[in-house]
Amino acid sequence: MDLFSLNDVERHLDIIPSDVFNLKTMLAKGEQAILYRLARDFVKPGHAIIDAGAFLGGSTYAFAAGLRDRTDSGSFHGSVMSYDQFLADEPYLREYLQDHFPDSTIDVSKTFSFRHLYDRQVAPVKDYVTTIEGSLLAQSWDTAKPIDVLFVDVCKTLPLNQFVLEHFFPALIPGRSVLIQQDFHHIFHPYIHVTMELLKEYFETIVSGMAASRVYVLKKAIPPHVLQEVIDYAYDRETIVKALDDVVTGSAKMEKPLLRYLVPWMYHQWGDSGTAHQLAEEVTDHLHAGGYIIPPQAYIAFPKMKRVD
Ligand SMILES: C[S@@+](CC[C@H](N)C(=O)[O-])C[C@H]1O[C@@H](n2cnc3c(N)ncnc32)[C@H](O)[C@@H]1O
Repeated sequence: MDLFSLNDVERHLDIIPSDVFNLKTMLAKGEQAILYRLARDFVKPGHAIIDAGAFLGGSTYAFAAGLRDRTDSGSFHGSVMSYDQFLADEPYLREYLQDHFPDSTIDVSKTFSFRHLYDRQVAPVKDYVTTIEGSLLAQSWDTAKPIDVLFVDVCKTLPLNQFVLEHFFPALIPGRSVLIQQDFHHIFHPYIHVTMELLKEYFETIVSGMAASRVYVLKKAIPPHVLQEVIDYAYDRETIVKALDDVVTGSAKMEKPLLRYLVPWMYHQWGDSGTAHQLAEEVTDHLHAGGYIIPPQAYIAFPKMKRVD
């Protein structure tokens, strides 16, 4: 499979079976199509697909349907390793479930399990799936088991990012494995961007922007001491800010407006609302002057970056 053909998936959505799109998911159709194509046309028997952060199974289903539609589908039973704790413990998850299951009897005022909703959605393709329920932080992966596709939609905290780096990255195959960072076109988890910037000589970008995702191939093996450094994440502020600036410099034109808000958001995370606010204003002025549309995410982030003193 020519991995660069994944850039065109949105123009060929008609070749993806409609059931892939016929369920509730936070993913865009282009992202689902990429997962389907990788499972159908790229993954080798005996190599794993990791779906880290399955939620209601939208990503799981796209992968599993791709395996189902292969002539050698019998070799792929249980091949999609689908991880989630299936707990609506964050407001954004509860809001999504409330909006998309309005008739449900779920009490959205407190944490609850949505595993039954995942099971219901994934049922038609469940033979291709191994579901691992629980915190990812309590799992492990035998790095001798090669991973062909690593889909990451779970790095909502630094420890989760560290887990993915420590347990899954060593099982990626140099010159072959595909990594999808689904939170790349978000500013809310900057350690993902710092990590990918500091590992950039090992990865080649295949698709720079498909909804929130960036797709990479691992070009060459990451030396263990280099990987350990990003796992440890013992960087000072100067290193982090430089890495985030470099992310913007190296990004595609359409990615830049949003990614420019990474540094302001980082200062907000550090509790420096004054600098966060000032930098966010500068970015906004710069974008206005250039005739750019301000990304909606910036409007979500901006009130939080307001000076609090
Ligand atoms: C943005 S959602 C994933 C969306 C999904 N890929 C889809 O296709 O719609 C992120 C998921 O990460 C899961 N998650 C967050 N922290 C976790 C943890 N510590 N262990 C396992 N899953 C976790 C959440 O339960 C949530 O379902």
